[in-house]
Amino acid sequence: MKKVLIIILIVFSLIQFLRGEKNEATFIVGNDFLELTMAPEEIKTMVKSACYDCHSNKTNYPWYSEIAPISWFIEHHINEAKHHLNFSEWSTYTLKKANHKLEECYEELERHKMPTSGYALMHKEARLTNEQIITLAQWFKNQMR
Ligand code: HEC
Repeated sequence: MKKVLIIILIVFSLIQFLRGEKNEATFIVGNDFLELTMAPEEIKTMVKSACYDCHSNKTNYPWYSEIAPISWFIEHHINEAKHHLNFSEWSTYTLKKANHKLEECYEELERHKMPTSGYALMHKEARLTNEQIITLAQWFKNQMR
């Protein structure tokens, strides 16, 4: 029994060295959704604290995200989220794609699907009130061209 615990401990320590690249690219103002749309402060704060950890090139990592295998799960999740929507690369979206993403943002908020429930549980600042959800959803819709 003691041997098994020691082996688990060793494996756990070793996997800590297997760290993928972090999602921490330099912020490029000219490509960013909130800058390009000249979002008001209220909106900026909401989107940054509720969406940007997953849907941008810059994640604010909590301490536990440094620990493998949690770190692997988080990195995978961020990659998947960015694949669907990346606010840091908004300038590269065609008008059609941008409009489609805005509509999706509206829908995801309306259905209370984003931010994901697990994330909201761990991040108090990401929890939006019903009033904030309505304001934000409407704002996304108003950005459609
Ligand atoms: C904890 C990470 C996380 C946060 C925070 C988060 N999302 Fe997502 N989001 C994902 C993942 C993962 C996907 C892709 C898989 C899926 O659709 O569930 C996704 C998908 C989406 C999609 C695409 C849906 C589709 O059908 O392609 C939209 C739009 C979206 N999110 C909007 C938002 C908005 C707006 C916020 C902030 C209010 C937000 N997300 C916050 C992880 C996140």
